Amino acid sequence: MSIVEMMAKPMFWVSCICWVLLLMVMTLVAGEGVGVQLHYRGQHYVIIDNGLVQVTLSVPEGMVTGVKYNGIDNLLETENTEINRGYYDLYWNTPGGSGILDKMKGTNFKVIVQNETQVEVSFTRTWKSFQQGHVVPLNIDKRFVMLQGSHGFYTYSILEHLQGWPDFNLNQTRIVFKLNKQMFRYMAISDTRQRRMPLPDDRSTGRAQALAFPEAVLLTDPVEPEFKGQVDDKYQYSCTNEEIKVHGWVSTGSGPSLGFWQITPSFEFRSGGPLKAGTHLSCWSYLSFCVLQCSLHGPK
Ligand SMILES: *[C@@H]1O[C@H](CO)[C@@H](O)[C@H](O)[C@H]1NC(C)=O
Ligand SMILES: *[C@@H]1O[C@H](CO)[C@@H](O)[C@H](O)[C@H]1NC(C)=O
Repeated sequence: MSIVEMMAKPMFWVSCICWVLLLMVMTLVAGEGVGVQLHYRGQHYVIIDNGLVQVTLSVPEGMVTGVKYNGIDNLLETENTEINRGYYDLYWNTPGGSGILDKMKGTNFKVIVQNETQVEVSFTRTWKSFQQGHVVPLNIDKRFVMLQGSHGFYTYSILEHLQGWPDFNLNQTRIVFKLNKQMFRYMAISDTRQRRMPLPDDRSTGRAQALAFPEAVLLTDPVEPEFKGQVDDKYQYSCTNEEIKVHGWVSTGSGPSLGFWQITPSFEFRSGGPLKAGTHLSCWSYLSFCVLQCSLHGPK
């Protein structure tokens, strides 16, 4: 696969990020035998579809705008704009400069594999020297893969820094999924840390009081009174790299019980080491995975 291909290239500082996202339901769904398809919706969207899951991506940016599963039109939060549902981002700075958040929007779309059993698409952005100081000096390639018979999809990204390109700090890079906040209310990060979570709205001014740092708030007037008086702090729901294997959210509500899970096959690609806190789930029904470097607490 291309990861191996890229790694074999000498002189390049290449980082690969590999994930599997799996959606599971309690009931079996038909569709295992259907071939994988790639549909275009107008000029600005592409859908990868195996008959079980349909993932809609914007072209050429490569933002995940929709995940359709088990008859539910979108598991992501449709109140959010299309660039704020499912996306990669990175936080970088020039030496001595201030931090810049980059949503890693692609400028070029390409199909890598398209056959009966597999579709892989790529969204790339190439760095040019005139962008020095303004754009992170990396070539970016975001990949999304759909396999036949899987109740989910795979994603990874390749970041390439060529020899001679300017130095910079890459303090954090991650993938984020903001799930439908009414549907996904129960969070599970480990066997012992799982619970029903307050709503993201509960963190807003008027409903919460900021504590020592912005991430921690006291819930003073949550939508549901059961959360009143609790502290919400995303760092309570983070996990060390070596322990991140499966975690995610489960739907509560009246529909079929549904999980949105992230499966991390290995933590080798995370440069922070096994004891670095490398992921978190905030009450934003938010699945965020730091990779390589992460500015969350823990040893660097
Ligand atoms: C990124 O990390 C480096 C090294 O720890 C630090 O010097 C720099 O200030 C950080 N950048 C930001 C924007 O926080
Ligand atoms: C589809 O492409 C993948 C990747 O190139 C390959 O491994 C697989 O055998 C192909 N399947 C078919 C049915 O051609």
